[in-house]
Amino acid sequence: MLNVQGAYKSFDGFMAVNRADLVVERGAIVAVIGPNGAGKTTLFNLITGQFKPDRGQIVFDGQEIGGLAPYDICRRGIARSFQIANIFARLTVFENVQVAVLSQHRKSRALFRPARDLMAAETHRILASVGLEAKAQRVAGTLSHGDQRILEIAIALGNEPKLLILDEPTAGMSPEETAATMALVQNLAHTRGITILFCEHDMDIVFSVAQSIMVMRHGATIVQGSPDEVRRNKEVQQAYLGGGDA
Ligand SMILES: Nc1ncnc2c1ncn2[C@@H]1O[C@H](COP(=O)(O)OP(=O)(O)O)[C@@H](O)[C@H]1O
Ligand SMILES: [Mg+2]
Repeated sequence: MLNVQGAYKSFDGFMAVNRADLVVERGAIVAVIGPNGAGKTTLFNLITGQFKPDRGQIVFDGQEIGGLAPYDICRRGIARSFQIANIFARLTVFENVQVAVLSQHRKSRALFRPARDLMAAETHRILASVGLEAKAQRVAGTLSHGDQRILEIAIALGNEPKLLILDEPTAGMSPEETAATMALVQNLAHTRGITILFCEHDMDIVFSVAQSIMVMRHGATIVQGSPDEVRRNKEVQQAYLGGGDA
C-alpha cells in the first residue's frame, strides 16, 4: 500500500531523514521505532505532505505522492494524528468529528443525498467506534488528555482513511488509557480494515501490537521486519534495544 524508498529530508543542512525505507502492507499494523530525534515524525511529515522530501520515492496505492499538498494526500486516503493533540478546543466532541465527516462528504458524495442526517449518523457511528459517544456534547477542550487524543483519532476517521498514521498515540496517557487506545487501534485494523502506521516509545506496546517494525536511527532505516526479526537483529540490539543512547 505504501512504499517509501530512499527518502531524505534536511533542515539547514541537518539530515533529519537520511535514507529512510518503509514498506506498509495493506491491512497491516506497522510501527516505526527509534530514539528521540531519530526522524520518525519527520518521516510521517514527508508521507502526509507537511514536508517535501529532498530525494526519494513515496508511493501510495501505486502513485508517487512525495511533495503533494497535505489535502491532496488526505484525499487519496491517508489521515493522521499529531504527536500533540490537534483538535478544535471550543467545539463539542460531536462538532469536531462532524467537521471532518462534512469535508469528506463534500469531496466524495453527491450533495443531494440527505446529507445532514447521513453525516450525523456517520459522526455518531465514528464516536461510538472510539468510545466517545457518551461525551459527544462535551466541549472538546474540557476532555482529559487521553480523550482528546482519542478524539483526534476520531477526527482522522472522519476522513475515511485507508491508511491511518498515528504519531505516538499513547504519549502522556495513563496505563489504562494506553491499553484502551491500542485495543482501539487493533480494532480499527481488524474490523474496519484500516491500515495503521504508528510510532511509539513503549516497546511492550510496539512488540505486542505491530506486525512489522521499522527501526530508525539518525534519520536512517536500520531494518524493517517482524517483531522476532527485529528483536534478533544485532544492529538493533546494539543501537537501540540494548540501551546506550536509546
Ligand atoms: N521543522 C524542523 N526544523 C528543523 N529541525 C527539525 C524540524 N523538524 C525536526 N527537526 C529535527 O530533525 C530531527 C528529527 O526530528 P523528529 O523527526 O521529530 O524525530 P522523532 O520524531 O524521531 O523524535 C531532530 O533533530 C529535530 O530537531
Ligand atoms: Mg516525534
